[in-house]
Amino acid sequence: TGRCVVAVDGPSGSGKSTVSRRLAAGLDARYLDTGAMYRAVTWAVLRSGVDPADAEAVAKVAGEIDLRIGTDPQGYGVTVDGVAVDADIRGPEVTGAVSAVAAVPAVRALLVARQREMITHAGRIVVEGRDIGSVVAPEAELKVYLTASEVARARRRSAEDAADEAATAADLARRDRLDSTRTADPLQQSADAVVLDTTELGIDEVVARLRELLTERG
Ligand code: C5P
Repeated sequence: TGRCVVAVDGPSGSGKSTVSRRLAAGLDARYLDTGAMYRAVTWAVLRSGVDPADAEAVAKVAGEIDLRIGTDPQGYGVTVDGVAVDADIRGPEVTGAVSAVAAVPAVRALLVARQREMITHAGRIVVEGRDIGSVVAPEAELKVYLTASEVARARRRSAEDAADEAATAADLARRDRLDSTRTADPLQQSADAVVLDTTELGIDEVVARLRELLTERG
């Protein structure tokens, strides 16, 4: 059980979370949901009544909160100052503001440092996000970039959230645009990442393919 980092990046609705958690559980590895960390900071920003567009105030909130997250793929409780926020960080308010908060360089610097520290102590870990292969863990043993058609991604997300598909599609497109065009660590496909399109592939097939790749790489 040596060190092994699997970096899973891709846009929302590409199947990242389900694939990453299943892969981690199957490998008996840890799991880190970095999106949940950006969401938790966003929750704290909204709770403080701070404008998500006010980068300086947002950075201040991020620096002051006590943010904790577990690494068990079966359940990784997220807390902010002792308050469990797992449900709230998936709500529309946080989802609507998270890309603005995640674009603040000071917020990224803080969270990337935390993520690297957790990875160093984890041994085997699957880490999902937008900048894992490019920024957080460029040394990862396996880098995966998951994609899917816009229609498939919107369908999955609206099913998860029991939301209207057209509204979900518009929200996904807006977040993808913000996440891909920001200056600080944008969503990027690393040149050395294995690209898997999950539009037609089932979750089990994707997980099986990743396990094959890991075995091939020893
Ligand atoms: O993956 P999830 O949809 O939970 O991520 C929420 C948001 O957090 C993304 O839309 C993006 O703005 C931000 N994020 C990021 N970098 C990461 C993970 C998430 O900027 N590594």
